[in-house]
Amino acid sequence: MAAPPKTVLYAPPEEEAAIRAAVRACDPSIIGPNRRLATQRHVEGLVQLLSDPLVSDPLYGVPRPFTERNILHWVEDFTERKARGEGVLIVTTDFADQGVVAYSQITIWPDRTSGETAGAISADIQSLGSGGSGAMRTFGWMYGVLGIRLIGLTAAIDNVRSAKLIERAGFIRMGERDSVRPDGTIRRSLYWEQTRDQWLSHEPPFEPYREG
Ligand SMILES: CC(C)(COP(=O)(O)OP(=O)(O)OC[C@H]1O[C@@H](n2cnc3c(N)ncnc32)[C@H](O)[C@@H]1OP(=O)(O)O)[C@@H](O)C(=O)NCCC(=O)NCCS
Repeated sequence: MAAPPKTVLYAPPEEEAAIRAAVRACDPSIIGPNRRLATQRHVEGLVQLLSDPLVSDPLYGVPRPFTERNILHWVEDFTERKARGEGVLIVTTDFADQGVVAYSQITIWPDRTSGETAGAISADIQSLGSGGSGAMRTFGWMYGVLGIRLIGLTAAIDNVRSAKLIERAGFIRMGERDSVRPDGTIRRSLYWEQTRDQWLSHEPPFEPYREG
């Protein structure tokens, strides 16, 4: 289960309301090519993606085992979270819009003006730069479009690629924390945080991607 950042920010009521409204209204297609909100029709593709241990072994936040029933429940849970302004589950589809080549799970705490994200891409396109560039777009979107001021991230202790891309994005390492899997078991994680001001000190404001 996603946990809010160690650093506690309090959003004034108008900021909390604006973040909830932004999450409810958000359209992930402006992050990059073939980004979609996960729906029932992506369940089979998500099961296939996650069934590859090269994709899912480093992930703590996904429901196991990867059955259509569990993944449908996860997708429906995020549909409800989005309606409350508290989360978004995004898929990157193939060109037929059936297969799923990547996903990101975004959890938002509007009252804390904070969020977390995690995700994965299919094994055949790993280590080619797309995970890193997609993550950068997602961070910019979370700050610039959803309007949060703080992101906390975790990664498995041995996840070298995640650690590198997170630190290249300017996140500050803040020790370790316990991440709780959906089944209640614990994974020890590396932990980082970054504020929107820190991000904007080295990255330009988010510019929407336009399809077509
Ligand atoms: C983690 C993940 C999203 C990274 O995306 P990616 O496209 O594979 O990674 P990139 O090619 O963008 O590389 C990211 C960084 O790792 C480095 N890297 C890539 N392959 C590497 C390898 N085999 N060994 C060491 N470093 C490597 C890159 O040089 C880059 O570092 P830099 O930012 O300092 O240049 C992707 O590998 C993935 O989905 N892995 C499985 C699931 C997972 O671990 N999810 C993250 C959970 S927090």
